[in-house]
Amino acid sequence: MRKQIVAGNWKMNNDLAETQELLSHIKMQLVKEPEAEVMVAPSFTNLYSTFEALKDTPIKVAAQNMHQSKSGAFTGEISASMLKSIGVTTVILGHSERRAHFHETNEILAEKVNTAIENDMEVIFCFGEELQDRKGEKHFEVVEKQLKESLYQISEDAWSKIILAYEPVWAIGTGETASPEQAQEMHAFIRKNIAENFSEEIAENVSILYGGSVKPNNAKEIFAKKDVDGGLIGGASLKATDFIALVNSF
Ligand code: G3H
Repeated sequence: MRKQIVAGNWKMNNDLAETQELLSHIKMQLVKEPEAEVMVAPSFTNLYSTFEALKDTPIKVAAQNMHQSKSGAFTGEISASMLKSIGVTTVILGHSERRAHFHETNEILAEKVNTAIENDMEVIFCFGEELQDRKGEKHFEVVEKQLKESLYQISEDAWSKIILAYEPVWAIGTGETASPEQAQEMHAFIRKNIAENFSEEIAENVSILYGGSVKPNNAKEIFAKKDVDGGLIGGASLKATDFIALVNSF
């Protein structure tokens, strides 16, 4: 059985005090043994304090980004070994905001994925089509290209370290969600594509999260779909009650 996961991507929100407050509310409200794996991804400045605060809980901590190089003259960047040195072994790569605002191409993302795998890190790999792709019925083509150019170079063994997050760009932070049927259709397509390029077993075992305006009032229906294994949550992960409601939406 593949893992069900609810991951909160806090993006560029919350200073140190706000992070600690949110964490204490999440810890208080989290049921003892949640059905889903729970993760939070705070900003870099709050990664270590978050890791420390969550040490005695089942909640995992993820970074929102990472540089592809080992070390060197890359002002402002963070390496895999820096993350690992503070106990963080999961990283979100390929978020559409990184692609759009920081010009991360499929090629750069392939390097980042390879670096993460070489460092034995878990990757939440994000991808998804833009509105014009969906309108032009090119969404399957776009998603396949993103996967092929950034992810399909990995070995079969490395798939145990991969979590996929399908995030249609038109649904991120817009209040507009893909319908449960649209999410299911795409997730099934992704799974089939992985089976064709790797194996049935890998396709069956990889968790595919949906991201894009998931809220407590729509999560149950989306998470109930056969090929949807949870969510990567932006806005609703910033409020403890909403985030916990999502964790309990299976
Ligand atoms: O990483 C999370 C996604 O970008 C979804 O964000 O839930 O605010 O739409 P959202």
